[in-house]
Amino acid sequence: MSTQTTARPLTMALSKGRIFEETLPLLEAAGIQVSEDPEKSRKLIIGTSNPNLRLIIVRASDVPTYVEYGAADLGIAGKDVLIEHAAHHSGGLYSPIDLNIARCRLAVAVKNGFDYPAAVRQGARLRVATKYVTAAREHFAAKGVYVDLIKLYGSMELAPLVGLADAIVDLVSTGNTLRANDLVAVEDIMPISSRLIVNRAALKTRHAELQPLLDAFEVASRKAVA
Ligand code: ATP
Ligand code: PRP
Repeated sequence: MSTQTTARPLTMALSKGRIFEETLPLLEAAGIQVSEDPEKSRKLIIGTSNPNLRLIIVRASDVPTYVEYGAADLGIAGKDVLIEHAAHHSGGLYSPIDLNIARCRLAVAVKNGFDYPAAVRQGARLRVATKYVTAAREHFAAKGVYVDLIKLYGSMELAPLVGLADAIVDLVSTGNTLRANDLVAVEDIMPISSRLIVNRAALKTRHAELQPLLDAFEVASRKAVA
């Protein structure tokens, strides 16, 4: 029986910026060069030196959607994004490899001088602004702290400064953004890094094409942390 050839090359969804930049060395370790720089080009579909692999450039939070629906066979997304996505989707995603890139942590932060332990002890409802409502809800529920969550899409650091919220849940890496806005981290929720995600159907139907790529990513990501 002849193996069926698929017309479309394997499609990998990536977001511009740090995920793309930190994925480039992993692709290079797998012997793959990218034909264009998405920061310079307006193209959303980018070819690679592997004729059977192309990249699509999407918003970070849209990567799991493209992969889940099979418009992309694989992609790279932060654990933060995957947690929020999983809350509303049934799970067409396979997430085999922690690539150890785009590392940071999810944390609770407040305005310098705000007495967070006292606010938590008093049991009053805390107003928390965040883009990460699922992770935040689970964190405070586990602590038994009542919170009113306010969904934001960015610039969370502003919320405590202008009275929108008592606290924020946001990603912290160097801590520079918190310091620049006179905020302090008061609680770590979880470490964050980015994972390779694969469409479950593609994993079966295009296994022979995907496996060498998954192996190369696995090796490259292990080298990256070594
Ligand atoms: P969108 O464009 O959809 O709003 P975004 O601005 O969060 O997404 P990026 O800033 O490119 O997108 O972040 C992509 C991923 O990188 C995040 O999902 C997170 O896992 C990780 N990340 C975010 N901020 C940092 C940081 N300061 N240091 C390291 N990794 C980070
Ligand atoms: C992320 C995050 C914080 C910042 C933390 O923002 O939302 O604001 O990084 O990093 P730091 O601790 O090193 O300062 P990002 O740089 O992705 O900008 P964004 O708000 O456009 O997502």
